[in-house]
Amino acid sequence: MRTWLTDAFALDVPVVCAPMAGPGEGPLAAAVSAAGGLGMIGVGAAQTPDWVERHAATARATGRSFGIGLMAWVLDGRPDLLDAAIAARPALVSVSFGTFEPHVRRVKDAGIAVATQAGNLDEARRAEQAGVDLVVARGAEAGGHGRADIGTLPLLQTVLEHVQVPVLAAGGIAGPRGLAAVLAAGAAGAWVGTAFLGCPEATATPDARRALFAATDTATAYGRVFDVGSRVPWPPEFGGRALRNAYLDTWEGRLDELADDEEAAEQLARARAAHDYDVAYLYAGQGVGVLREERPAAAVLADFARAAPARHRS
Ligand SMILES: Cc1cc2nc3c(=O)[nH]c(=O)nc-3n(C[C@H](O)[C@H](O)[C@H](O)COP(=O)(O)O)c2cc1C
Repeated sequence: MRTWLTDAFALDVPVVCAPMAGPGEGPLAAAVSAAGGLGMIGVGAAQTPDWVERHAATARATGRSFGIGLMAWVLDGRPDLLDAAIAARPALVSVSFGTFEPHVRRVKDAGIAVATQAGNLDEARRAEQAGVDLVVARGAEAGGHGRADIGTLPLLQTVLEHVQVPVLAAGGIAGPRGLAAVLAAGAAGAWVGTAFLGCPEATATPDARRALFAATDTATAYGRVFDVGSRVPWPPEFGGRALRNAYLDTWEGRLDELADDEEAAEQLARARAAHDYDVAYLYAGQGVGVLREERPAAAVLADFARAAPARHRS
């Protein structure tokens, strides 16, 4: 299966394992890259340049293309993370969620391909103007943080109509049927997070895995409860999609109250430390219903490779 993406990064399958701060560290990126996809390392706000280099070294050891994903709003106060990502010489860096333009320019100037996840057409156009090599059209179904303005399919169609750089689709692409659909629409590949959450190479506690495998297709909800409860300063336009749980049910629609409730914040912090997922968050997208058992990243990728060869925009 060849597309612009497989040619640009010498891949066997047009699938990027999306950056996922938390579960998506060096081991998952390495496993996906070794199996012929493009594995990415998700860099969280609390990480250090040493952490970036250590996990990049794990992915680099495969000898295949890997990437590093950063959050624009974090880089505004932590330019050292961008320095470390560039120094690690990945094939691709993504900078998403916030004022990405100056960071895109720096990555490009370093000779590294750069991507931005866009949640609406305006953001996709901004990314193209900033000079990205590819735009990720990331729909509301997606796991983790981002916009929830538009579903993946309408967003993908709109972005493909109006943007000239290669486009990947993200949000709810959970297997070969979804990959075939977005390739047929004209995407150069898929940017997949949730479908890799059940891999042994992903960083997750046994309780987290159990909760993910038990989740059904309607188990997720989008919003800001967990950001407000954990006092993480995500820009408000980027909510998160996570498994619905008792904490979310309690605080949904009461964000102002939650922002002032220190006991609720402490409860969430304690639950995170105790891996209590009735309270603590587990970010996942609407494709979570496909996760049923632990499967190595290579098996998940081999499954994606069963997508019928399809027409694609070159
Ligand atoms: C647990 C989790 C953590 C994520 N962390 C990041 C991140 O650190 N940086 C980022 O750019 N995107 C992050 N994302 C978003 C993914 O890059 C991607 O947009 C999303 O997973 C695609 O949708 P899907 O989950 O339906 O496949 C995260 C997603 C999940 C599920």
